[in-house]
Amino acid sequence: MILRLLALIAALGWTGSAMAAPRECAQSPGKVLEVCVWVENGQALYSVARGSKPVLAPSELGLTFKGEMPARFTTIGNARRTTSDTNWEQPWGEQRVIRDNHNELTVTLGGDTAFNKAVDVTFRLFDDGIGFRYTYGGIPAGQEVAVTAERTQFRTIGAYQAWWYQGLGQERDEYLYTQTDARRITLAETPLTLKGENGLYLSFHEAQLIDFPSMLLQGNGEGTLTAWLMPWPDGTLAKKTGPFSTPWRTMLVGETPGALADSRIELNLNDPSKIPDIAKWFTPGKYVGVWWEMHLQKTTWSSGMRHGANTENVKRYIDFAAKYGFKGVLVEGWNLGWDGDWIANGDKFSFTQPYPDFDIAAITAYAKSKGVQLIGHNETGGAVINYENQLEDAMKFYQRYGVAAVKTGYVKHAGDILDRDGKGEWFAGQFMVRHNLLVATTAAKYGIVIDAHEPVKDTGLRRTWPNMVAREGARGQEYNAWGVPTNPPEHMTILPFTRLLGGPMDFTPGIFDVAHGKDDVTRRVQSTLATQLAEYVVVYSPIQMAADLPENYEANLPAFQFIRDVPTDWEVSKTLQAEIGDYVVIARQPRGGQDWFLGAITDETARSLKQPLTFLAPGKTYEAQIYRDGPGADYRTNPLSIAIEKKTVTAKDVLTLDLAPGGGTAIRFRLVG
Ligand code: NOJ
Ligand code: CA
Repeated sequence: MILRLLALIAALGWTGSAMAAPRECAQSPGKVLEVCVWVENGQALYSVARGSKPVLAPSELGLTFKGEMPARFTTIGNARRTTSDTNWEQPWGEQRVIRDNHNELTVTLGGDTAFNKAVDVTFRLFDDGIGFRYTYGGIPAGQEVAVTAERTQFRTIGAYQAWWYQGLGQERDEYLYTQTDARRITLAETPLTLKGENGLYLSFHEAQLIDFPSMLLQGNGEGTLTAWLMPWPDGTLAKKTGPFSTPWRTMLVGETPGALADSRIELNLNDPSKIPDIAKWFTPGKYVGVWWEMHLQKTTWSSGMRHGANTENVKRYIDFAAKYGFKGVLVEGWNLGWDGDWIANGDKFSFTQPYPDFDIAAITAYAKSKGVQLIGHNETGGAVINYENQLEDAMKFYQRYGVAAVKTGYVKHAGDILDRDGKGEWFAGQFMVRHNLLVATTAAKYGIVIDAHEPVKDTGLRRTWPNMVAREGARGQEYNAWGVPTNPPEHMTILPFTRLLGGPMDFTPGIFDVAHGKDDVTRRVQSTLATQLAEYVVVYSPIQMAADLPENYEANLPAFQFIRDVPTDWEVSKTLQAEIGDYVVIARQPRGGQDWFLGAITDETARSLKQPLTFLAPGKTYEAQIYRDGPGADYRTNPLSIAIEKKTVTAKDVLTLDLAPGGGTAIRFRLVG
């Protein structure tokens, strides 16, 4: 009642400074989180609490526009509240049915500039996090505006550790994470994950990034993180036309790392699918490809004697895929443009002209006869305009040959992508956000799904455009071929709680020859063989590559069996136990199935984890097919030691997972009775 009265006073414009600031508050459905919003001293502020713990101190809201001063906000009013509890189904995913249970609060903030006169801010409160966004409904239709600053803050309270890398580095999002005191954050990419001395885990990100620049977070040395948007070349942040809404700014809050990984807020804050029939024309699955051999420099993307994408070699992969039940064969280096410095000369790429030794008609016909599909590849070298100019033709070309999935790539240093004016664009500014959506929507018209490498990060858009099937956007397996150094073991225990919170990753697991001829462990795949199997469960993606050379799999068919068995589409996923940067155990149940799969990975430290099997159906019996680190396994000295064994288990059992240094365990639980 008092709140309402205060709101009424605010609505009437009575905000005398002697009075307590009127505030509007809302709680999440289970009363776990509470948000309050108010205006004070010219600022629009919000705060967040979890039970009795304050999570965010009063933090600013708002945008500033070109031609205007930062607005002074003096009123808050017109509070609107809704509540919603629904379920919806993904065409494929880490979880089939997603519950969207939230309370919503919208208030109108009154500022003293024309564009900020009446700004709606909408908060959605879930028990595991919040999202909020701004709607500038008062900007007249057709009026062009330029955003010059975002004032949104997240003012954390107390000491936090953070896992992050410096934003705007030349390799975009392909960096190792460092763990530091969160006050050391200068400019961090999102999702940005923090662990507090107060026992809380937080992750800051955004959802529904459409026609706006990506949000990074800038630290002030004292725990305040402020939104920092990747600018256009002229320094403008976002170019919009009234009226418009921003993407959602999000914060996950939980007491375990798993609470972050198992949150579905990201998807819930996106619109329903615009491709409702997609499951009729695309199904998730696994693929192999002419790929790792190029990264190992056994063959080349470019033409010549060692050209990897030749018809004969591709047929070898097709035979392998058909024999072992893989759906797709990716082929890179098939098209004109790879000769010479392709990163510098991306505008030479043709997306419709194969090299003469790549007979696409014969290859796709052969693949079809074997029940396998070619996966296309469009590396742009960051020459985005060249790609946009050919985009329709590129998709038509692939459609003609029955190609249903295309991997794209944007290898170019951050900031060097040229726009139509020849100006350098960031890899995830508004220009590239628009480009990524253009590619996905164009591909959708031709019944094609996109797996973008060097992408704009995922913000749950795969709900609306499920043909954005997967992305890279982190240091993937490729770095284990040539990285200096390669990915250390802890990388796989950090990704699930950072990059992967954004969405599926085409990490490309499954390297069996982890040393690939190198003695120096920092130049090899830094994991045991069992870890390579566990990655198929730990990293979610609807398309999963078996990245190694066919001969390396044929040399170890017993271990390869796990890759053949593991699905890429799940009924439900659960993070069972984890500590960020130390270890992770995840279980997933195949979509529509009764079995379960488990993946466990540790960092460089050996561990023995007790894992209760309470996720299994009570009263049922399962055959656990266990692929674990074998005697003496160690990623440095003995990575290939693997033990494969079977055990009969029930939900009442507790398994001991013995993980070697850099080790892991992969288990298939097969329902037997
Ligand atoms: C970088 C991608 O991440 C990788 O998978 C691909 O092989 C190369 N670019 C070449 O396109
Ligand atoms: Ca890459």
